[in-house]
Amino acid sequence: MTVIHTRIIGTGSYLPEKILSNADLASVVETSDEWIQQRTGIRQRHIAADSEMTSDLALKASQRALDMAGIAPDKLDLIIVATTTPDMVFPSTACLLQAKLGAKGMPAFDVQAVCSGFVYALATADQFMRSGQYEHILVVGAEIYSRILDWQDRGTCVLFGDGAGAVVLKRSAEPGILAACLHADGSHAGILSVPGSVSGGKVSGRPLLQMDGTAVFKFAVKVLEEVAVETLAIAGLHKSDINWLIPHQANIRIIQATAKKLGLPMERVITTVDRHANTSAASVPLALDEAVRDGRIQPGQHVMLEGVGGGFTWGAVLIKWQAGSEDS
Ligand code: ACO
Repeated sequence: MTVIHTRIIGTGSYLPEKILSNADLASVVETSDEWIQQRTGIRQRHIAADSEMTSDLALKASQRALDMAGIAPDKLDLIIVATTTPDMVFPSTACLLQAKLGAKGMPAFDVQAVCSGFVYALATADQFMRSGQYEHILVVGAEIYSRILDWQDRGTCVLFGDGAGAVVLKRSAEPGILAACLHADGSHAGILSVPGSVSGGKVSGRPLLQMDGTAVFKFAVKVLEEVAVETLAIAGLHKSDINWLIPHQANIRIIQATAKKLGLPMERVITTVDRHANTSAASVPLALDEAVRDGRIQPGQHVMLEGVGGGFTWGAVLIKWQAGSEDS
């Protein structure tokens, strides 16, 4: 029996034009470039224009991924969008993206796993691919966090940014995706949340991000190491086999602590948090696209993608890179 695998044949990303520096933020809340850089590694973040919706960011990232893959949108068999900041309550951002891509017919749905969203969506897509029913799948992480932040709260507003990243997946005889692990523990819902909802035509609760930073920090470092080890074990590989680690880009100190626990030098870790800040579900595909396009990630290398975020959710996808377009 032929075993079906999933490989990535295109990556793309998009960042809104407007850049908000730490110095810009210091004129809004009591903070400083020095404090933000020291505690988080963040120098700047991109902010979506008022006219831009999450599906617009997703569209631009998807078009770039489809261009690299060399396939037209109507060749897609499935579209999955990971987002916590959808355009509206419904329809899903994936359906809105499908229409903007000028495609129809294939299933499209959103995955909501906050900063683990892209890893959740990629692992989900891999399962669909392995079913044998699908040949091409688009997976996107897209967010506009600037709209769910309390811009008076210096403890949270300095940490996030807007952006989108996408990958085009193709059915393959060779992996591709070697292993994936997903986890959640809803008992930690309270340490990171946007506790608002729509009720009776009004917003009920506080629809702005709130967080226990210290608890989030400790939890993230613990589970990012654990899930990497668990995923490596499924693939029969070891920490030293990781060529590139692409962890969720929340804070450089979380990334450094995770790399240290995994015994990886920072030279083997892809980081964008300095320029993008935390773009939640978009952070991993944004970093992946950057490292693919600048040639750091090469065929045959092992790339570990990791997410952790509200829920709490966490997970990892291990890839043996074998990029190439539709024809390769
Ligand atoms: N500028 C200046 N001072 C600030 C700022 C700011 N932006 N924010 C907080 N402070 C102050 C605090 O008020 C506090 O002052 P005090 O001592 O007078 O009370 C002081 O700085 C220290 O605050 P701490 O919260 O102890 O600072 P810490 O070193 O823990 O850093 C941070 C805070 C950066 C939020 C850290 O806890 C962290 O990175 N946590 C992880 C959170 C994270 O990355 N969340 C992203 C979403 S979760 C995810 O994606 C997985």
